[in-house]
Amino acid sequence: MPFCSRKCLYCNFFSVQYSDALVDKYIYALLKHALRFKNKKVDSIYIGGGTPSVLSLRQLQRLLESLCKIFDLSEVREFTFELNPESVSKGKLRFLREIGVNRLSIGLQSVEDISLKFLGRIHDFETFCNVYALARQENFDNINIDLIYGLPDQTLEDWERVIKKTLVFDSEHLSLYPLSVNGNTSFYISDIITHDDVQRNMYDETVEILANKGYIHYEVSNWSKQNKESFHNVNYWHNFEYVGLGAGAAGYLERKRYKNVEDISRYIDLLKNGYNVESENEYIDDRIYEMETIILGLRLLDEGLDVKYFENPKHYNVLLECLENKTLKMESGKVRLAKECVFIFNQIALKFA
Ligand SMILES: C[S@@+](CC[C@H](N)C(=O)[O-])C[C@H]1O[C@@H](n2cnc3c(N)ncnc32)[C@H](O)[C@@H]1O
Ligand code: SF4
Repeated sequence: MPFCSRKCLYCNFFSVQYSDALVDKYIYALLKHALRFKNKKVDSIYIGGGTPSVLSLRQLQRLLESLCKIFDLSEVREFTFELNPESVSKGKLRFLREIGVNRLSIGLQSVEDISLKFLGRIHDFETFCNVYALARQENFDNINIDLIYGLPDQTLEDWERVIKKTLVFDSEHLSLYPLSVNGNTSFYISDIITHDDVQRNMYDETVEILANKGYIHYEVSNWSKQNKESFHNVNYWHNFEYVGLGAGAAGYLERKRYKNVEDISRYIDLLKNGYNVESENEYIDDRIYEMETIILGLRLLDEGLDVKYFENPKHYNVLLECLENKTLKMESGKVRLAKECVFIFNQIALKFA
């Protein structure tokens, strides 16, 4: 749902200002889009951002009740909904639980109000605490919390405080991202600077703290309790197919990756007139498929990737080089990223490109 109340200063994701009337039209268009996949069996749903929780209860009901009729959800295992603390109410949570949402992802970003202000967030920590308690009361037993670390003046001690205060909530899942300053963001325009070495130290410290608390570091930026990995996201990293609905959303079906137009009015107009909404697409031939499977699969730190995926001579040679320099390791036929190299994952992945 590419609508937000206000743009966060660091955010480079596609989203526009929420307006009630525009969202009504957008939902109508999105449902027309969904009808093109009518009766498709899906095993997970992810309603992500922008800010899906900014929709009114009426809009959420219209959207989700219709989606539940359009798709065959008899085998849905995971149904995630992203929440921003300032736009959550008891009524919305109750409806989400009733309609079948069984996983929440809450954008906390920091536990310190001064950092939240710096990031341009609307909520404060207290609002998050209330929402989290409400979600537990409404029987959500699978909750992810998003945090951002490595803010410009943040010290290692500051971050340790943030992570320890977050651990008190005992959430099933944590997604932790180093602040990146890029694209067309206010932070980029005002030259906000982050420090790789500080972010690296924070990352190393986090790995240790969370391991001691029993969290499994199953993906580069994701930690979970046992069996609480995000099924939906793991499917991406397994290079499986997915339908992407909405303006700016990406999808992958029948060896075609596509991206929908990043323009709300155009998306609505195209659907009104029955046209294709893709602005980009690419056929994934065997060569690209093999490369992507490796790059995505290596992100799964715990599961690893079967050595059979490295059959292509180029990939095999890179694998040998990486085993030699110990950036990758192999055990019982599974290739995994070496623990110390997770923070430089992108550099390693590039070798397979
Ligand atoms: C798709 S985004 C939006 C989710 C939701 N709208 C929110 O704001 O909480 C998912 C997560 O990516 C992270 N993120 C977005 N931009 C980032 C950036 N520039 N640097 C680091 N993390 C970022 C944030 O933790 C955010 O919660
Ligand atoms: S971080 Fe989330 S709330 Fe903030 S602008 Fe981006 S999508 Fe919207």
